[in-house]
Amino acid sequence: MNVLGIESSCDETGVAVYDTGAGGLRAHAVYSQIALHAEYGGVVPELASRDHVRKLLPLIRQTLAEAGLSTADIDGVAYTAGPGLVGALLVGAGVARSLAWALDVPAIGVHHMEGHLLAPLIEEDAPQPPFVALLVSGGHTQLVAVEAIGSYRLLGETLDDAAGEAFDKTAKMMGLPYPGGPQLAKLAEQGVPGKFRFSRPMTDRPGLDFSFSGLKTQVLLAWRDSDQSEQTRADIARGFEDAVVDTLAIKCGRALDAAGTDTLIVAGGVGANRRLRAKLVEMCEKRGGRACFPRPALCTDNGAMIAFAGALRLAAGQHDDAAIRAVPRWDM
Ligand code: KG4
Ligand code: ZN
Repeated sequence: MNVLGIESSCDETGVAVYDTGAGGLRAHAVYSQIALHAEYGGVVPELASRDHVRKLLPLIRQTLAEAGLSTADIDGVAYTAGPGLVGALLVGAGVARSLAWALDVPAIGVHHMEGHLLAPLIEEDAPQPPFVALLVSGGHTQLVAVEAIGSYRLLGETLDDAAGEAFDKTAKMMGLPYPGGPQLAKLAEQGVPGKFRFSRPMTDRPGLDFSFSGLKTQVLLAWRDSDQSEQTRADIARGFEDAVVDTLAIKCGRALDAAGTDTLIVAGGVGANRRLRAKLVEMCEKRGGRACFPRPALCTDNGAMIAFAGALRLAAGQHDDAAIRAVPRWDM
């Protein structure tokens, strides 16, 4: 079964075809709107919607061509139904639902975070549940015990900023261009470890929740009182990154203990962070377990994770009615 996946919840238009048979991920393409939003320092919802309108159909044509398929080969359509920007979601949902109706195939709305969560399973040698998933994106920081696909138990989450949001806001405070997270991570490579030490929030007490907003304030004060040189900026970036990475690693270790497993999967944009990947691999190996990540391109928003999550549900016989679903706020 070839499932077309469409992602349009924020500032990336993503399209993919996933084959539930031997083909696996047949093609995927992402168009990023970063350049469009850069001059505003953040995503402008109305501009995002309009750009999805412009890019989605050409990207579907391109992806089908890359997969060597035509619309007649599509057996189902999966789209991100939420959470996200409602206008942006409506573009993907409208196109997906209409296409499914025209082709007379089933459609299914997918939860964006379930897409992220399942993305590591697209890769070869993927683990099977039970495992713990760390979801770290611009909007979410969650630890989830996965007993089976579709059976999720929230172990902990952020009480304020998401990890990606903390990266982005901290980067902005230090004058880095949007989108700050990856830029800050790049800058941290030049930073001297230990030059600035920030706290590891909420690790001194039991529990699996996170809080990153205080860390942001610590960085703001350190930056304000510093000489604000290029090297200092890199040193602070390194101190901040180490604090976030350590905090996430400590809580992941506790979550594995709580769930009684040694397998961790990591997904969401911050999962592309090199230091986080290295740290979590080391932590899991020490316990005799493993940490699994999707390739970096499948950590950030993409159509492949939506095609895959939708394909699993469609293959299990689930599908939606004819309604176009766009749910801006939606618990997984
Ligand atoms: O999953 P994603 O693409 O979109 C959401 O669903 O939010 O995640 C985007 C987030 C942004 O906050 C971005 O700054 C962060 O992931 N991010 C990173 C890195 N690459 C992306 N944060 C730290 N290090 C990176 N290498
Ligand atoms: Zn995302």
